[in-house]
Amino acid sequence: MMFWKVTEAACIAILATLATATPTIDTHIHRAVLSRPDIKPFPRNSGRSKPYSPPRTKTCSVIALGGGGDDAPQILDAFQDCNNGGTIVLDGNYTIATALDLTFLDSVDIALSGSIVFKADIGYWLANAFRYDFQSSTAFWKIGGRDVNIYGGGVGVIDGQGQAWWDGFASNSSLLRPISLVLDGLHGGSVTGLRMVSPPNWFNLIANSSDILISDMVLTAKSSNSNPVKNSDGWDTYRSDHVVIQNSVIDNTDDCVSFKPNSTNIVVQGLRCNGSHGISVGSLGQYVDQYDIVENVYIYNNTMSNASDAARIKVWPGVHSDFEPILSGGGGSGYVKNITYERYENINNDWAIEVNQCYGQSNKTLCELYPSNMTISDIYFIDMWGTTSSKHDPKVGTLVCSSPEQCYNFHAKNISIASPKGKSQWICSNFDTSGLEGFDCVSG
Ligand SMILES: *[C@@H]1O[C@H](CO)[C@@H](O)[C@H](O)[C@H]1NC(C)=O
Ligand SMILES: *[C@@H]1O[C@H](CO)[C@@H](O)[C@H](O)[C@H]1NC(C)=O
Ligand SMILES: *[C@@H]1O[C@H](CO)[C@@H](O)[C@H](O)[C@H]1NC(C)=O
Ligand SMILES: *[C@@H]1O[C@H](CO)[C@@H](O)[C@H](O)[C@H]1NC(C)=O
Ligand SMILES: *[C@@H]1O[C@H](CO)[C@@H](O)[C@H](O)[C@H]1NC(C)=O
Ligand SMILES: *[C@@H]1O[C@H](CO)[C@@H](O)[C@H](O)[C@H]1NC(C)=O
Ligand SMILES: *[C@@H]1O[C@H](CO)[C@@H](O)[C@H](O)[C@H]1NC(C)=O
Ligand SMILES: *[C@@H]1O[C@H](CO)[C@@H](O)[C@H](O)[C@H]1NC(C)=O
Ligand SMILES: *[C@@H]1O[C@H](CO)[C@@H](O)[C@H](O)[C@H]1NC(C)=O
Ligand SMILES: *[C@@H]1O[C@H](CO)[C@@H](O)[C@H](O)[C@H]1NC(C)=O
Ligand SMILES: *[C@@H]1O[C@H](CO)[C@@H](O)[C@H](O)[C@H]1NC(C)=O
Repeated sequence: MMFWKVTEAACIAILATLATATPTIDTHIHRAVLSRPDIKPFPRNSGRSKPYSPPRTKTCSVIALGGGGDDAPQILDAFQDCNNGGTIVLDGNYTIATALDLTFLDSVDIALSGSIVFKADIGYWLANAFRYDFQSSTAFWKIGGRDVNIYGGGVGVIDGQGQAWWDGFASNSSLLRPISLVLDGLHGGSVTGLRMVSPPNWFNLIANSSDILISDMVLTAKSSNSNPVKNSDGWDTYRSDHVVIQNSVIDNTDDCVSFKPNSTNIVVQGLRCNGSHGISVGSLGQYVDQYDIVENVYIYNNTMSNASDAARIKVWPGVHSDFEPILSGGGGSGYVKNITYERYENINNDWAIEVNQCYGQSNKTLCELYPSNMTISDIYFIDMWGTTSSKHDPKVGTLVCSSPEQCYNFHAKNISIASPKGKSQWICSNFDTSGLEGFDCVSG
């Protein structure tokens, strides 16, 4: 199929050259345009299948300006021309130097075989990036609407130029750093086959969206000097329903995937995460007067290496905490319910499981005085194996709740996690542990 398409394109190109009899060959015609891959949620879906996305009928190619010129205006033009049924072909190396609002999209594909680089003009972005109340996040660009497929065929690159931002953060811990890719209000869509490098902040935020498939992505965040990579969550879901994230490789320093407030019917499968803070529910309960829900999440067949945690549930206590300059909170309410971690390989993680209802607050007395206002229930850990790091040896996990009223119906089955010295003790506190098969529970 693929071979035939390339051949056909080449024939048309040759015919076109003959017809116009021009001796110069337009390399643009010869470059094979990526075709939309046929990727489905597999083996699990989010409870309903991906909506039908009809084939596109026209293309709009954008010729990169080069030399660091801002391609945002002409990329916006291409979306206006090719919206409602077209494909935007991005096969060059583009610089985006001005904020790009692409939330008006309807039935459009983006074939990115080139690269998108966000100019590290910190002063410009501080004044002009899109701003969100939630966790003081900001964005270079945002994509929303309905039925949008972004695909990179394994070669397309999104480069956040994070190093300049991590360097800036090292001397200003209030520096608001943009997220590399924000889906904001996208209903029906996919992001596949892209390589994402150096995000100033999180790699991806999926917000106000539904029916999204993410697959075959490679995410890499590495600092080239002693200033650490900051944040770099792989994907955060927020106010989103029916999202599948699968078959991807992530090398970062913060959550591999994180389910933020109102994430429901989510599947995460076939990821290989390294160096992260785990596949995490939360943090939740950060904002007083807000009600947060994370429900029906299936985390299946993943591998976690060199991380602080593999499976993690973190909620703020019922009292305000100043955690970090741009991350403080506590006192919010809501619930975490029906979360399953199944088939989970652990290699050298500090904790295989961490459940914490005292996130961001170092004063334990305060957490006991003000229990979390979020309940955590119907939690399943099934088929987890591997060895932890030596950090907490002989302890391999910690499950600490505010009170049994706030944490219930916890289950663990077929968990074979050992510390390097061979023992496996679990810290279990303030909840009914009778559903944890084979756990050697000790107190903190
Ligand atoms: C884009 O940049 C890469 C790496 O710098 C280079 O290999 C490639 O040829 C460039 N693509 C185009 C279309 O200029
Ligand atoms: C730190 O960054 C923030 C923006 O995120 C800015 O308002 C503030 O002026 C910066 N502080 C310094 C000392 O540069
Ligand atoms: C989500 O939708 C709300 C309500 O329309 C809006 O205020 C917010 O900016 C949107 N995006 C994010 C990331 O919160
Ligand atoms: C688990 O995911 C890997 C990719 O990381 C895949 O190759 C394998 O087939 C999956 N196994 C199951 C049982 O789904
Ligand atoms: C995996 O993470 C560890 C710890 O952060 C890091 O030292 C290592 O370089 C990472 N591996 C790869 C392949 O990047
Ligand atoms: C989450 O959903 C609940 C129930 O619909 C709603 O009350 C709450 O405001 C939502 N929270 C956010 C952060 O959107
Ligand atoms: C729990 O969530 C899973 C998906 O993760 C779903 O299949 C199942 O129906 C949910 N259970 C209930 C009782 O809603
Ligand atoms: C884990 O970290 C070690 C040491 O940094 C590294 O050799 C190994 O490749 C990492 N594992 C993965 C899967 O990247
Ligand atoms: C917990 O939430 C309930 C309602 O959801 C509210 O009445 C109560 O004040 C909250 N408690 C704290 C400590 O925030
Ligand atoms: C922790 O909080 C309690 C109660 O407010 C207070 O008495 C104690 O001094 C605090 N401890 C520290 C180390 O701040
Ligand atoms: C327990 O988990 C292992 C993976 O560690 C799996 O191979 C085995 O089939 C599971 N056993 C049962 C009884 O489910």
